[in-house]
Amino acid sequence: MDNDSLIRVENLVKIYDGGEVPLRALDGVSLTIARGEFVAIMGHSGSGKSTLMNVLGALDRPTEGRYWLDGEDVGEMDVEELADLRNRRIGFIFQSFNLLPRLSALQNVRLPMLYRLENRLDAAKREKTAIAALEVVGLGSRLYHRPNQLSGGQQQRVAIARALINQPALILADEPTGNLDTKSSEEIIGILQNLNRQGVTIVMVTHESDVAAHAGRIVHMKDGKIMTDGPNGHRQRDAAPALESRGGAA
Ligand SMILES: Nc1ncnc2c1ncn2[C@@H]1O[C@H](COP(=O)(O)OP(=O)(O)O)[C@@H](O)[C@H]1O
Ligand SMILES: [Mg+2]
Repeated sequence: MDNDSLIRVENLVKIYDGGEVPLRALDGVSLTIARGEFVAIMGHSGSGKSTLMNVLGALDRPTEGRYWLDGEDVGEMDVEELADLRNRRIGFIFQSFNLLPRLSALQNVRLPMLYRLENRLDAAKREKTAIAALEVVGLGSRLYHRPNQLSGGQQQRVAIARALINQPALILADEPTGNLDTKSSEEIIGILQNLNRQGVTIVMVTHESDVAAHAGRIVHMKDGKIMTDGPNGHRQRDAAPALESRGGAA
């Protein structure tokens, strides 16, 4: 396997058989994502985007097919190993933010660190790390606000800080701007782009082409299959240069 691949999936099939006819939400998806990429996944509602994200995030297992993350076979992992993988290697960002309403921004961001044994003893260190993460997303002055005291864009920034807290190699964002106005969306995408420039691999679902325009590569899905997959020809100028344009003759 290519050493630069962070994600490799082969022939993923996900069948939901609750209804009258079994539904193939994923129907033979194969995909390789290199470390440092920023990939947008597009497609109509029901095309299988979230199902794919749930498999990539080790939140769900495929019916068939294989998944390697960083060279490790995720299909072979037991429940504890999967939980550890999610906690250490993957940061999740959802459309609905998924913050705990009774906790402050700081407490929400600190939460994923509590599950790591080696961090449990050192509360002061946890606090410091969480404050730094909130400062990175521009919320250093909102540490003690609860989610309902923050705007949608601010709540999503808290969710990003929480996703970053264990320094994951991979950020999975499922419609991160779906509930946000244009200005907040741009801020969130800007933060994701910055993270990507610092080397974090990002896979982001969106059905807005102006949001996808910030990614380096766009994958289109339909009926559980990948229809197209290629470099983003319309990438914004402020984005990091695409690999093929680096050091080229142009
Ligand atoms: N837990 C589930 N049980 C049964 N069907 C599901 C479940 N989750 C998703 N589906 C179905 O699988 C298909 C793909 O869904 P999803 O991955 O959520 O699509 P998208 O995120 O692209 O809108 C849809 O037809 C959806 O209704
Ligand atoms: Mg979805």
